[in-house]
Amino acid sequence: MSSIFSLFFKKFFKYKDSRKGNFNDTSQFEDREMARKRHDDDSGIFQGRYVKFELGRFTDPFIYGRYQIFEEVKKDLDRLNSGSKVLDLGSGTGHLCKFIRDKGFEVKGLDPSKEMLSYARNNFPDIGFCEGVSAQLPFEDGEFDYVVSIEVLRYLNPKDVAKTYSEIFRVLKPSGFFNVTHVNRWATDFYVIYYTVIRFFITLSGKKYHNCYFTTASEEEDLIRKSGFLKTKSLGRMFASIRIGYKFGIFIGRLYALVLEVVNKKQVFKGRLKNFSGHLIIRGFKE
Ligand SMILES: C[S@@+](CC[C@H](N)C(=O)[O-])C[C@H]1O[C@@H](n2cnc3c(N)ncnc32)[C@H](O)[C@@H]1O
Repeated sequence: MSSIFSLFFKKFFKYKDSRKGNFNDTSQFEDREMARKRHDDDSGIFQGRYVKFELGRFTDPFIYGRYQIFEEVKKDLDRLNSGSKVLDLGSGTGHLCKFIRDKGFEVKGLDPSKEMLSYARNNFPDIGFCEGVSAQLPFEDGEFDYVVSIEVLRYLNPKDVAKTYSEIFRVLKPSGFFNVTHVNRWATDFYVIYYTVIRFFITLSGKKYHNCYFTTASEEEDLIRKSGFLKTKSLGRMFASIRIGYKFGIFIGRLYALVLEVVNKKQVFKGRLKNFSGHLIIRGFKE
């Protein structure tokens, strides 16, 4: 009996440690590998989702969120001079690279998943995609004007996230800036609760569940400034509860999203409200 209790507590405290970010080096690389493997396995799902992109923002909650994120990326691209070089970190199936290329910029994509890279190269043969991880970028110092990373850091552990900021700092030109998205710890879809429960039981059964890096705007901005960036800005996009709406079916989800658009069309959240939104968007500026 006592050994069952000891197993339970061992698993529980190991699990709690990982939530606090006390990762040893092994889990840093394990998490990195799990993120890659998961996306190898899910690459077909991502490809299918982007194929539906043309059907409009209400198609599903994934696409709804991407429409909002792409609006933010467009704002960044509007600030860039022509001829600017852009890096899409964790480029997946390459659809954001296409969006950037279509706005007239030179863009490179990087991803560790061979399956994702295969879709990306097939989708957009004229764009350069390379294999690699965000914490060890295979690029020269000061090569890019702008780095963007959409829904990537969320799968990494805290050490890799911190290393990624240092690497972004290194590959950006002195006037460069970046935009990354994160999972809000207090998002009103309550994903943190769902994830924590699932992870708890999976960990208890002796398996490892992929990491999810929950954060807040102020925690992340502090970390980014520690990596050398002089200025940071953050905001939230999308009512997170829209994701819950879609759980009740496509009709209810779309209706709920439509009603919320009447209340707040753009769903751009600043101040404290950003910490409850569906996507936390953080920008860092080198100067
Ligand atoms: C949720 S997908 C997002 C893809 C794309 N950014 C988008 O928004 O469509 C996350 C991507 O991050 C990639 N990824 C996972 N671990 C990574 C790492 N350590 N460095 C860079 N990318 C990584 C995955 O292979 C996957 O393509």
